[in-house]
Amino acid sequence: MSSGRAARAPRRQCLAVLTRVILKGESLTVALIDETADLPAREAAWTRALAYATVRWYIRLEAMVEWMLERPLKSRDALVRVLLCQGLAEIFHFGTPDHAAVRETAELTRAIQRPGAVGLVNALLRRALRERGALSVLMDRSPRTRYACPAWLVRGIRGAFPDTWEEVLRASVEPAPMTLRVNLARTDRGAWLRRLSHAGLSGTAHPTVPSAVTLDEPVDVEHLPGFSEGEVSVQDAAAQWAALLLSPRPGERILDACAAPGGKTGHLFEVAGGELELTALDVDARRVVRVDENLRRLGYRAQLHVGDLADTEGGWSDGLFDAVLLDAPCSATGVIRRHPDIKCLRRASDIPALAERQAELISAAWKLLRPGGRLLYATCSLLARENESVVVPWVARTPDARVLPLSFPGGVDREVGRAIPLGTDGMDGFYYALLAREA
Ligand SMILES: C[S@@+](CC[C@H](N)C(=O)[O-])C[C@H]1O[C@@H](n2cnc3c(N)ncnc32)[C@H](O)[C@@H]1O
Repeated sequence: MSSGRAARAPRRQCLAVLTRVILKGESLTVALIDETADLPAREAAWTRALAYATVRWYIRLEAMVEWMLERPLKSRDALVRVLLCQGLAEIFHFGTPDHAAVRETAELTRAIQRPGAVGLVNALLRRALRERGALSVLMDRSPRTRYACPAWLVRGIRGAFPDTWEEVLRASVEPAPMTLRVNLARTDRGAWLRRLSHAGLSGTAHPTVPSAVTLDEPVDVEHLPGFSEGEVSVQDAAAQWAALLLSPRPGERILDACAAPGGKTGHLFEVAGGELELTALDVDARRVVRVDENLRRLGYRAQLHVGDLADTEGGWSDGLFDAVLLDAPCSATGVIRRHPDIKCLRRASDIPALAERQAELISAAWKLLRPGGRLLYATCSLLARENESVVVPWVARTPDARVLPLSFPGGVDREVGRAIPLGTDGMDGFYYALLAREA
C-alpha cells in the first residue's frame, strides 16, 4: 500500500478491526466483514491480510512492545498498544518497507486523535528496526512467543503431541491453504483438476484424502469450475474424513446433529450418491440458513431443524437414526491458522465447560441412535481434554457402546479414536471416534 491519505484508510480500518477483536473480544471474521464493507476490493483485501498477520502474531508482538517499553502503558492507552502491534506486524510479518511502516503508523496515531502518543510510536518502532535481530532472538526463546500461542495452549499441544508438538505449532502460524472437496458423486477428481487448469488455475490432488484438492493460490469461489452447480465445495481435507468414516449407505436415516453451516452435511449426501434421509440439526438459527444455502447449491434436500440436541422435548425428531454425526462445538484449536483470533479470545478456563457439554451431547445423540447404529464423534480441537478424555470415560460408563477401529493415513491413534495433528499433509487439526451401539 503506497503512502499518503489513500494508505491510511485501510490502516485505520485494520485498527478498527483489531480494536474489536483484541479489546472487545469480538470475532475477527465478523469485525472484518463490517469494517471493510465500504472499502474498494483491493484495499479490503489488504486490510484483511494485515489484520490476519497482526492477530496471528499478536502474542509475540505484544511481548515485544512490553519488552521495549520503559514504563508499562496505562490501561487507558490500550488502543496505543494495539496500534504498536499493528505497526510491528507491518515491519516483521507484512513486508512493508521500514520507513513506510514507521511513518504511516505515526500518521495513524495522529489520525485517531492521539497526538501525545506519536513520539512513543515513532521511538518504539524505530527501536524495533534497530534491534530487529536481537528482538527476534529474544522472542524465539520460549514457544509462547516463538509461535504466538498462549501458554495454556502450548501446554495442551505438548501434552497431546509429545513428539511433534513443535511441528504443530510451526504449522499453526502458517496461512492455511484453500482446500476443496470434489463431489465424487458427480465428477472425477482428475477430470475436475483438468478443468481447473483450463480455467487458468492450478491445484494438486491431496495425497491422502481422495476427494480433496489443494489450490496453489486462494481464489474467489465463483472462479472455480462447477462451483455453482455443486461439483466442488470449500472444505479442509481433515474435515473430509467425517463423511468418509461415518460412510452413510444409500437410503439410511442419518442425523447430522451439529450441522451448521453444513460443510459435512453436503459431503454425507455425496458419499451416499445423494440417496439419504438426512436430518440436519443446529441450535443456531442463522447458521441453519447457511446449511440450506449449501444444500441447495449441491442439489440435495434434508430435513432442517433449529434446536438443541440435548433437548429431548424439542419435538424435532421422531424415531431413531441409523447413524449420527456429532461434530461437536469445541475450542476450535485445530483451526487456529484459519481463525487466529481463537488464540486471543479463548481462555484455558473455557475448556472444562466445553468438555462437559461435549459429553452431554454424546449422551443426547446416543439416545437417538438405533441399536446396531453408529455414531461418529468429531472435533476440530487439538486438546486431549475435548477428545479422548471425553470419549474414554463416556464409553466406560455406557454398557451398550462399542469402540470401532479407525484407520486412515495421516492420523495418530488415541486410546479411543484418532487425532490428526494440525499441519499433517497441510490439514487442519481434527479428532474422530467411531462408536457402535450394541444391537
Ligand atoms: C463445529 S460446528 C459444526 C460444523 C458443521 N458440522 C460443518 O461441517 O459445517 C458446531 C455446531 O454445533 C452447534 N451447536 C452447539 N451446541 C448445540 C446443541 N446443543 N445442539 C445443536 N447444535 C449445537 C453450533 O451452533 C455449531 O454450528
